[in-house]
Amino acid sequence: MSIDINSSIKGQSIRFCDRRADIDLHQLQALLNKSAFWAVDRQIEDLQIALDRSEPVVSAWDDAKLIGFARATSDGIYRATIWDVVIDCDYQRLGLGRRLVETTLGHPSMQRVERIYLTTTHQQSFYKRLGFVANHSTTMILDRSKPHTEGT
Ligand SMILES: CC(C)(COP(=O)(O)OP(=O)(O)OC[C@H]1O[C@@H](n2cnc3c(N)ncnc32)[C@H](O)[C@@H]1OP(=O)(O)O)[C@@H](O)C(=O)NCCC(=O)NCCS
Repeated sequence: MSIDINSSIKGQSIRFCDRRADIDLHQLQALLNKSAFWAVDRQIEDLQIALDRSEPVVSAWDDAKLIGFARATSDGIYRATIWDVVIDCDYQRLGLGRRLVETTLGHPSMQRVERIYLTTTHQQSFYKRLGFVANHSTTMILDRSKPHTEGT
């Protein structure tokens, strides 16, 4: 399954695509380094592993330039999580982030899912506009990038 949606933004034609194979990992690394504070310094080999295990993988393109990215992991019916949603800083506030998330939610592997999770540090207002609500009560995390500190 693959889609190509063209959005006309200020005269520019932005193409949205869900073909994982189209992703140029070097462009993705550069986009994350530039515009995704939680995903700087990710290695190409590790990005490849993440992409291989994600479905859908959605990208936004200004001609041959990768300017947006989102991915999800999903069981197809009960639970899914959206990860690494980013629009290039130079293209934000043009409606592209909304289109990116809507394209991700509309993918066949997401369409029937009962509950869709995501984590965000600063973008609650953006996601509220898309129907997400805060969920402080149920989330726990085992963060293997940090030392274990029981009882703190
Ligand atoms: C969050 C992000 C994807 C939004 O993309 P965007 O293209 O700028 O968003 P859009 O232009 O599609 O905005 C959609 C709506 O959200 C609103 N919005 C966008 N960013 C917002 C913000 N920071 N605060 C409040 N509202 C915001 C817009 O005004 C718009 O509202 P409207 O539909 O009522 O007009 C983009 O800012 C980004 O990549 N940020 C850095 C990475 C990040 O923090 N990602 C989220 C963590 S997973």
